[in-house]
Amino acid sequence: MRSEAETDLELSTLSVRAGQMRTEFREHSEAMFLTSSFVFDSAEQAAECFAATGGEHFVYSRFTNPTVEMFQRRLAALEGAEACIATASGMSAILSLAMSTLKSGDHVVCSNAVFGATIQLFGTILSRFGISTTFVPLADLAAWEAAAAKPGTRLFFVETPSNPLLEVCDIPALAAVAHKAGALLAVDNCLCTPILQRPLDLGADIVIHSATKYLDGQGRVLGGAVLGSKNLMLEGVLPFLRTAGPSMSPFNAWVVLKGLETLEIRIQRQSEGAMLIARWLEAQAGVKRVFYPGLESHPQHALAARQQRGAGAVLSFELDGGRDAAWRVINGTRIFSITANLGDVKSTITHPATTTHGRVSPEARAASGIGDGLVRLAIGLEGVADLRQDLARGLGS
Ligand SMILES: Cc1ncc(COP(=O)(O)O)c(C=O)c1O
Repeated sequence: MRSEAETDLELSTLSVRAGQMRTEFREHSEAMFLTSSFVFDSAEQAAECFAATGGEHFVYSRFTNPTVEMFQRRLAALEGAEACIATASGMSAILSLAMSTLKSGDHVVCSNAVFGATIQLFGTILSRFGISTTFVPLADLAAWEAAAAKPGTRLFFVETPSNPLLEVCDIPALAAVAHKAGALLAVDNCLCTPILQRPLDLGADIVIHSATKYLDGQGRVLGGAVLGSKNLMLEGVLPFLRTAGPSMSPFNAWVVLKGLETLEIRIQRQSEGAMLIARWLEAQAGVKRVFYPGLESHPQHALAARQQRGAGAVLSFELDGGRDAAWRVINGTRIFSITANLGDVKSTITHPATTTHGRVSPEARAASGIGDGLVRLAIGLEGVADLRQDLARGLGS
């Protein structure tokens, strides 16, 4: 962009235009800089660039690369963040956040309705390094407050809506509880993306992304991002990334940068499809319950309508017949891809209890409400009637 302040522009404009850095060749599409390092005109210039801490000079692609920088600037503009640090995957974004904000003796309060690997990271891996985590029900503010009374509470971590049960938490209210306890609030915004929800505008301190999902949007590459204040990103996360190296590759950054250009239309169209399928599922025999914030039956429907600009494209449903019934529906499909990923233009179907949450202990799974009869759908861009028919086969409807 030539002159407009990025903050004044619409999300659709930012998705396509923000952050572009054109070279002297005047390319229209963003360039892919597949290079591990950058050269200097002199020893003096090399010394100056290596001494800089803010990532403003390109030195070595573990921590600075123009294609990655363009992705970071574009996503920061979309999330309304001062700064963004791209990472190799969503999990390495969460790890980078933890390693740059926590130390031995610190305490984390985490929703028990987070992605399975996030539970493992906080509950098992970080506990080996003296960082304790209390898991609490996502929407129970009193439980967050009680857990935060533990000395050393530094971080609240939440996914909203959660995966796979689509529970929603009140971000401004949770931010108030976190800040009263002297903790930072991090929100994994994977399911909504900034198109449907901007957690920083709602009071959160940090946004986490698995760029592997909607930001790419076509299931091609892994990626992640941490977003927040310049101080937290450049003084905290960047030094960790620079040293430990869970960095996004320039190729992946280019793919995701291109993915961002179609983010808004994909999210809108995929969310419309999810709404139609959720309503249809509610009327099917054998379906005990449908979990989708766009439905009036969702316990936090009003909150989601207030906090989000749409209900998103992921939904789950619980079947009467437990695992056998869930597997029958999954095995009956011919269009849905049986895969754990979500956020793709190809619709996906998953049995969380034996895949994404299969490594979580049965107790933790039960605590987060993930039953054996639960099936998760992530709706893509296929025709809705075709997708309904695909599900109807295993439902026997
Ligand atoms: C909500 C959420 N956060 C984080 C992750 C981890 O992302 P990645 O697979 O890119 O490491 C996932 C992956 O499925 C996810 O669904």
